[in-house]
Amino acid sequence: MAEPGEDYWLYGALRKAAGTGAHLLSLGFPIGMAVVSKPGSSLFSWHPFLMALAFSFIMTQALLLFSPETSLIMSYSRKIKVRAHWLLQGLASTCAILGLAIISFNKYLNDKPHFTSWHGLVGLVTVLYICMQSIGGVSLLYPKLMNWSLSKLKLYHATSGLVGYLLGCTSLLLGMCSTWFTETVTGITWYLAVCCPVLLALVIMNQISNAYLKKKRMQP
Ligand code: HEM
Repeated sequence: MAEPGEDYWLYGALRKAAGTGAHLLSLGFPIGMAVVSKPGSSLFSWHPFLMALAFSFIMTQALLLFSPETSLIMSYSRKIKVRAHWLLQGLASTCAILGLAIISFNKYLNDKPHFTSWHGLVGLVTVLYICMQSIGGVSLLYPKLMNWSLSKLKLYHATSGLVGYLLGCTSLLLGMCSTWFTETVTGITWYLAVCCPVLLALVIMNQISNAYLKKKRMQP
């Protein structure tokens, strides 16, 4: 029978491997999307690239930097990590708003109706949601204004941030079900591409619930 210490070692090693995999996927996905969409080749080409960059790379990094196992700035103080989180989330929101503006303008130029697909609708909700989440994040600076304790605000921010991230992954998945993508990327490559946001969502879900929500649940 395995000693408890051995179990923890294996658990830790698995979490480290999952975290490392998430770093690689978060970068590999937008690179793959750039290869497929060739940003700059048309106005549309910027949409999938900017969205993949915003949600898969920047937003994932903004969350992974809090990972106790695989944060790229592990040795830095909590204050620096929070600042980097803000900066990256701001950058991700900017890329997402730009990606939304580009696809909307492209549809306007081509006289196509707006927000008619599930991807378009969920995508619009996602961008609006992350804008509200960013505004909500500012309230963490002024908890007294909200009349809530800082720990309660942090719990709400982490929970609703996770919802926003999952919405982003869902929008990426629905985007990969679009006619444009399914005609361009086929077979096993399509399945591999679809696995990226699914695996990222699992790692981030695990990180937030383990490191934050579970701890809060256990408090009386
Ligand atoms: C989280 C990431 C994404 C968000 C929030 C998002 C958002 C949107 C929105 C709101 C629209 C509709 C615009 C309008 O009707 O005026 C749209 C359209 C479109 N997007 Fe995305 N998108 C994302 C990622 C992607 C990805 C990764 C792809 C390609 C793989 C993609 C492909 C398309 C296509 C082909 C359209 C036009 C057809 C349609 O409206 O469904 N999107 N997107």
